[in-house]
Amino acid sequence: MAFFIDSSDPKEIKDLFGWGVLSGVTTNPLIIAKEAPDADLGERIKEILAVSHGDVSVELTTETEHEMLEEAAIYHAWDPSRITIKVPMSEHGLRVVHQLTKKGVKTNVTCLMAMNQAYLAALAGATYVSIFSGRVRDMGYDVRPVIESTRLILDREGLDAKIIVGSMRHLMDVNEALECGAHVPTITPPILRKLVWHPRTIETINEFNTAWRNRGKK
Ligand code: E4P
Repeated sequence: MAFFIDSSDPKEIKDLFGWGVLSGVTTNPLIIAKEAPDADLGERIKEILAVSHGDVSVELTTETEHEMLEEAAIYHAWDPSRITIKVPMSEHGLRVVHQLTKKGVKTNVTCLMAMNQAYLAALAGATYVSIFSGRVRDMGYDVRPVIESTRLILDREGLDAKIIVGSMRHLMDVNEALECGAHVPTITPPILRKLVWHPRTIETINEFNTAWRNRGKK
């Protein structure tokens, strides 16, 4: 079991890795376009690599097999042991995963909404399969059976792919992903911070510290 951080902000990533609970980073083109529209992708990812450890997912934005493989080669060279090529699910995507797997390159097949997609990605050799919790719910479906059935089939068939659950909108989505068998919830910084917090914890700490400060006073 592991948590990844779903962010491209090196400052946040550095700070949150300090908690000792994170073991990787996921990014996507939307996150980077929002957080750093003017950034050079290579520079941004190298900054992230410097302040984190574990796998760092970088997503392909080209759409033909040839272009995707060329793009993947550029990203992979930034750190062959840690860069994980995030491949959007499609027929081209499966071919690319198959090619990259043969070369020993780690992959994360992304934008998955259904178990059948995750199963195909795992068969093609994906290191990770990323199920999008919030986006499944946006369509009016329950994501729990998607995660549970994916975990069931990966375990039953002895496939090595690990299930990432992303697109978290609420802290309860994280708890639910863990309960349903996700190997790796990937969490945005605001939701990760919410996981720490509980009102009764704050009250209890205040009660203890107030008692300590007032000890001996009548
Ligand atoms: C996961 O790897 C994705 O980066 C991410 O969680 C997508 O989330 P969204 O639905 O908020 O865009």
